[in-house]
Amino acid sequence: MEKKWWKESVVYQIYPRSFCDSNGDGIGDLNGIRSKLDYLQNLGINVIWLSPVYKSPNDDNGYDISDYQDIMDDFGNMEDFDALLKEAHEHGIKIVMDLVVNHTSDEHKWFIESRSSGDNSKRDYYIWREGKDGKEPNNWGSCFSGSAWEWDEKTRMYYLHCFSKKQPDLNWDNPKVRDEVFNMMTFWCNKGIDGFRMDVISMISKMDGLPDGYKPEGALYGGLENTTNGPHVHEYLQEMNKRVLSRYDIMTVGECAGVTIEEAAKYAGNHGKELNMVFQFEHTSLDHEKKYGKWTDKRFYLPDLKENLSKWQRELEGKAWNSLYWCNHDQPRIVSRLGDESPLSAKCIGTVLHFMQGTPYVYQGEELGMTNCHFGSIENYRDIEILNAYKEIVEGGYRSETEMLAAFEAKGRDNARTPMQWDATKNAGFTTGTPWIMVNPNYTEINAEAELKDKDSVFYYYKKLIELRRNSRWSDIIVYGKYELLDPDNEFVFSYTRDFEGKKILVICNVSDKEVKYKLPIDVAGAGEILISNYGDVKIQEEMVLPKWFAMAVEI
Ligand code: GLC
Ligand code: CA
Repeated sequence: MEKKWWKESVVYQIYPRSFCDSNGDGIGDLNGIRSKLDYLQNLGINVIWLSPVYKSPNDDNGYDISDYQDIMDDFGNMEDFDALLKEAHEHGIKIVMDLVVNHTSDEHKWFIESRSSGDNSKRDYYIWREGKDGKEPNNWGSCFSGSAWEWDEKTRMYYLHCFSKKQPDLNWDNPKVRDEVFNMMTFWCNKGIDGFRMDVISMISKMDGLPDGYKPEGALYGGLENTTNGPHVHEYLQEMNKRVLSRYDIMTVGECAGVTIEEAAKYAGNHGKELNMVFQFEHTSLDHEKKYGKWTDKRFYLPDLKENLSKWQRELEGKAWNSLYWCNHDQPRIVSRLGDESPLSAKCIGTVLHFMQGTPYVYQGEELGMTNCHFGSIENYRDIEILNAYKEIVEGGYRSETEMLAAFEAKGRDNARTPMQWDATKNAGFTTGTPWIMVNPNYTEINAEAELKDKDSVFYYYKKLIELRRNSRWSDIIVYGKYELLDPDNEFVFSYTRDFEGKKILVICNVSDKEVKYKLPIDVAGAGEILISNYGDVKIQEEMVLPKWFAMAVEI
C-alpha cells in the first residue's frame, strides 16, 4: 500500500459560525479560529477542514455561495483568511477548504445573469426547463422539502435546486461552468491551501432527460437518485484532477451521498485519477427508517453498525482509502446517538473509530464529548432543513408536532451547530454577545477549560488516540494495518484486530451501558502492552467481565 501524508493525518472539522466569536457579534469568525490554534495543536490534529467561509447570504449557513473568491462579512476578510492560513501552517496544521460547486447561491452573479433572460450568455450555467402540463418538469423533491423546481416568472421557466430554492444547481455539462470552477479552485490552490472537501460532489452529473425519481406510496415527491452518481461524474472529476488537483500536493475528500462500495472505488481508487477518499453515508443511515427517513428517534442496532463499517474496511482494503467519521455539521452528536452522553461512552465510541483503517475526522466538540441539545420548541432551531420540514410535515398535517420535535432532537443538524463549549462563563465563552443559536445548557459541566485541567477527560483521551495514530511505535499498524472483525453477531461488544508486517493489535469495546461477560474469540496468551483503555487498571484475559462502555486496545 502506498504511503501518503493524508492517510497518516487526523482531520478536525470547524464549523466557523459556531466555533469562536472574536468580536462579540454572536457569530464565530476567522479571527476566533486563529485564537484557538494552540488548542488544536495541543489536541494533536494536523489538518483542519473548514466549512464554507466564502461570501454568502446564509440561507444554508454558507453552503449557498455568492462569491467563491471572497470571504463572508460575518467571518472577516481575505486578510484574516491569509493570516489564518499562515498561522495554521506555523502550528503544523494544514487547511482543507469546503468546495460547494454542485450549486451556487441565487445571489451569485452567474445566476443573476442567468435568470435575467432566456438568451443570456450565462443562461446555460444552470439547469432551466419548461414546465410539463402546467406543472414542474419532473417529480423531484428538494432535500430541504418542496419541489426541486422553482418557477421563474420573468422567463417563464423552472430552474432546478436539489437543496433550497436559493441554491440553484450548476449545469456541469456546460464546459464553461467547468472552466470557471477549475479556475476558482486554482486561485485557492495558488494561495497555498491544502485540499478540498467537496460538497455533494456525487450530484454534479444529472441523468440525461431528467427522469422522474422513485416515489414511495404516500410520499409528496420523487427521490433524487437520478441526480446522483450520474453518467458523467467520473469524467468531470478526472478532468478536474488533470487540470487542477494533480498539480498540487493536496488532499481531497468527496461527500458522496448514495455511494456504494463499487462507486467509491471509482471516486477514490488507488488509480489516483479522481479523489483521495469519499464520505459515504451507509452507516449514518442505519438509524433512519423507510417511511420518514431521518426524521425518527430510532437508534442504531450494534450488529448492523459493525457489519456495515466492517464491510467498508474489508472491501476497500488495497483498493481505495476510507474516511472515518461519526460526526459532522449535518449529523447529531454521536455520544447521544450511540452512547449515553457520559464521558465514558464518548471514549468508548472514539476508540471504535480511531483504530480503523482510514483517515479519521473529529468534529468540533466531539473531543469534549459534546452532546445533542434539548432545543424544546421550534423557535430555538435555525436550520433550514428543520424549519422547512416543520412547515411541510407538521403544518401540512402529516405528523404531530410532538413526533417531529422528538425526531429533530434525535437527528436534527442543529445538534452539531450549538456553540463550541470553551469554558463555564456566560455563553460557554463562545461570545460576549448574543449567540446566533442557543448554547447547550450543559456547558457548565462539559467545556474545554474544565477538561484541560482533568487528565481523565474525553479531551485527553482523544489526544491520546490521535497521538497513537500519528506519532507512536504503533502508527504503522493503526494507519495501514489490515482490519478484521471478530464476533460479528455479538450485540454489545465491538471487537476487531489490525495486522501489519507481523505485528497485531486487538481492540475490544463494550458499546453498551451493561456489564458484559466476554470470552475472547482470539488467543491472547502472548498479549503485550496496552495502548489505551478508558478504565484504569485492566488486564487482558481469555474470559473477561467488561464493565459498561469498556474500551481497550492491546498489542497481541
Ligand atoms: C452538504 C452539506 C450540507 C448542505 C448541503 C447543501 O450535504 O454538508 O450542510 O446543506 O450539502 O450544500
Ligand atoms: Ca464574530
